[in-house]
Amino acid sequence: MDHLFRPLQLGSLTLPNRICMAPLTRCRADRDHVPTQLMAEHYAQRASAGLIIAEATMVQAGQSAFQTEPGIYSAAQIDGWRRVTEAVHARGGRIFLQLWHGGRACHPLINGDIEPVSASAIAITNDITHTPEGKANYVVPRVLHDDELPAIVALFGQAAANALAAGFDGIEIHGANGYLIDQFLRDGCNRRTGPYGGPVENRARLLLEVLAAVGVVWGSERVGLRLSPLSSFNSMGDSDPIGLARWLAERLNACNLAYVHLIRGDVLGEVQGDVLTPFRQRYQGVLIANLHYTAAEAEAAIAAGQCDAVAFGTAYIANPDLPERIRAGAPLNTPNPSTFYKPGPAGYTDYPFMTTT
Ligand SMILES: Cc1cc2nc3c(=O)[nH]c(=O)nc-3n(C[C@H](O)[C@H](O)[C@H](O)COP(=O)(O)O)c2cc1C
Repeated sequence: MDHLFRPLQLGSLTLPNRICMAPLTRCRADRDHVPTQLMAEHYAQRASAGLIIAEATMVQAGQSAFQTEPGIYSAAQIDGWRRVTEAVHARGGRIFLQLWHGGRACHPLINGDIEPVSASAIAITNDITHTPEGKANYVVPRVLHDDELPAIVALFGQAAANALAAGFDGIEIHGANGYLIDQFLRDGCNRRTGPYGGPVENRARLLLEVLAAVGVVWGSERVGLRLSPLSSFNSMGDSDPIGLARWLAERLNACNLAYVHLIRGDVLGEVQGDVLTPFRQRYQGVLIANLHYTAAEAEAAIAAGQCDAVAFGTAYIANPDLPERIRAGAPLNTPNPSTFYKPGPAGYTDYPFMTTT
């Protein structure tokens, strides 16, 4: 497992290994979306990751998709996150925060009747959501006008400043998994005309404006970006996902980002294709790959130059000491899906560490 344990440089930040913790929404914040002490413990347990990418975090009030996911728009949330970053740093770790706007994945019943917004008036239909009143279908979102988009960009800029104040080492922009930025990127969901619709350079405009705004706050070399061109989760699709990935790979070279974090396939398994190879051929920066990697496959992928690091999702839910286990060739704990989104310590901070004899 040599390659997984080689240091990796992200701008001025050195990762001691190439095993990253993928962003994982776990719904352990409080009802005001304030990060809790339990979250500080959870992330501190995972401080041996090369990089922790903390979960999708709301940049705006009234745009909740999961009820007790965290935010980074209030002073209390900044204080809560500061406890998390201090706990991770005290154990020698590094932590980025994933900045997120849910767009059409938010539901009025979770948000005091506030309507969700999106690129076009198209609802998510391949899933249901959970609200205080039980399971519900997603609703048709309100279309954001072009002149509302500078305010969305500004929300990301403010959230980036708040993340800096909270002591993070960097931020990741959530451009994946069918949330607002992705809703603009992919033409199955973006049917707009005008400067933010139509050809890919228009559909990518919101993303590029957000990257520029947060780069002013952080310096672009502390900004990562997550993309999932092939994913059909949240009713997403594109008429040319590989073309989209190629275009983004070439365009992002000019952005001098910390990394691009590419979900290599479709988590629902409905869309097939290789997006990693064309992206790697065109993108010159650090590339983190994700989705269904075993440690052995991750090692082989890095050794073959397919990516520079691998992010592990579900393996990190159940294995706080994942790098130590990989290095030792030890068995992994099995994650329990029934506690993935269930508030409380069960299935969150109580997965056992490897015992050494
Ligand atoms: C419980 C759970 C929560 C997740 N939350 C997020 C999230 O907040 N942001 C995100 O980009 N992806 C999220 N994902 C996707 C994971 O980051 C990752 O892409 C997925 O688990 C696939 O990686 P794996 O095969 O290593 O598990 C989540 C996945 C799970 C299972």
